[in-house]
Amino acid sequence: MTVFAGGASAFGASRLGPVRVGLLGIGTVGAGTFNVLARNQHEITRRAGRGIEIAAVADLDIARARELVAAHKGDAVNNGDPVRVTDDALSVVRDPSIDVVVELIGGYGIALKLVLEAIAHGKHVVTANKALLAVHGNEIFAAAREKGVMVAFEAAVAGGIPIIKALREGLTANRIDWIAGIINGTTNFILSEMRDKGSSFEAVLKEAQQLGYAEADPTFDIEGIDAAHKVTIMSAIAFGIPVQFERAHVEGISSLQATDIRYAEQLGYRIKLLGITRRREHGIELRVHPTLIPTRRLIANVEGAMNAVWVKGDAVGHTMYYGKGAGAEPTASAVIADLVDVTRTLTVDPGNRVPHLAFQADAMADLPILPISEVESAYYLRLRVADEPGVLADITRILADAQISIDAVLQREPAEGEHQTDIILLTHVTIEKQCDQAIARIEALPTVVSKATRIRLEDLN
Ligand code: HSE
Repeated sequence: MTVFAGGASAFGASRLGPVRVGLLGIGTVGAGTFNVLARNQHEITRRAGRGIEIAAVADLDIARARELVAAHKGDAVNNGDPVRVTDDALSVVRDPSIDVVVELIGGYGIALKLVLEAIAHGKHVVTANKALLAVHGNEIFAAAREKGVMVAFEAAVAGGIPIIKALREGLTANRIDWIAGIINGTTNFILSEMRDKGSSFEAVLKEAQQLGYAEADPTFDIEGIDAAHKVTIMSAIAFGIPVQFERAHVEGISSLQATDIRYAEQLGYRIKLLGITRRREHGIELRVHPTLIPTRRLIANVEGAMNAVWVKGDAVGHTMYYGKGAGAEPTASAVIADLVDVTRTLTVDPGNRVPHLAFQADAMADLPILPISEVESAYYLRLRVADEPGVLADITRILADAQISIDAVLQREPAEGEHQTDIILLTHVTIEKQCDQAIARIEALPTVVSKATRIRLEDLN
């Protein structure tokens, strides 16, 4: 046995031996978990009541795994036995001496198989894998309940921010009304740069890739899929509903134009990629899309790769959680918090642990996820129009017919010799299908010369 977080003897309260962890995947977060456990072993053991040691590591890149383990040799605090390093992850999840499996592989291929196999072998699981839980969470949690084991996933949402803990435990007295989060650092970095420099999406993405901020294949980030995985998980624990990623409405930022960021700014708004989930009378809204937010809101000022989650509960009111949503040690911070939680409750009757999705499994709600056409939102509309008398009147008449109230209008003065201009309208809250119908009528006007740009707007009040 090797590594970490001390033996029991230093802390008289516990006579139990260390908890033995099998780590699957030793990339950035795996290495960060190793480092933080080694550095803070004393503090962590004082909190957990017993040692937490990494007993086995599995990675296909076995040379890198050996290198990392070797680098920590001097940190061993137990018996000095070697950490088992293998490229056979199945042998780790089936190892009878392992208590907890930490899954840091990602994706829903082999990771699903390993997590289910670990549960079948009675292991507790800690995972940072948002995609896996958003898509296969119901199956995984059911299997874990059956076996009486924990599946902990703090690191899956907003990296180092303890938002799962806050939603599941800290806010447990509340009826949650809504959650709105900046939960993807890559896109927030791109939006901040677009605003600061007035650059196009393509130019900033390229720069972000060169600097290593964005993945070589950034699809999951820029198309909103990563954020949708995370908001799906938050929605489930906020409202006590199953995870339903397939019903989430997902739009990314790849077609967002610098022009709209500029006009929004002139009207007192910033555009952020928000993951939103809201309780409505007949269902739950679950959506990710670029969103105008008033600049005066705290969350509108979250810049660069930082994350923030805003939660509105009926008793507590508004709360906001801010921090790093990615990176080796911020994510390791969340992984180790889960390891400590699992360690503390290993001997607790499974029926008395915090339920996986915050609500008791037999008390889940069957509220449906609402289709996007039923979502309630305000809207930013940018229309390219012929600069002729009566154009604005035609447009506002269509909106009035659809019972859509206008909040603000901005009309750009046409440049010298130009015969077209932009009209920007902000509407009050309406149902999305009403807005769709009005836009179709507006686009049919002969004086409206191109398709409307429509971005949702949330006051977050
Ligand atoms: N790729 C994510 C982000 C971090 O950019 O925030 C991991 O979920």
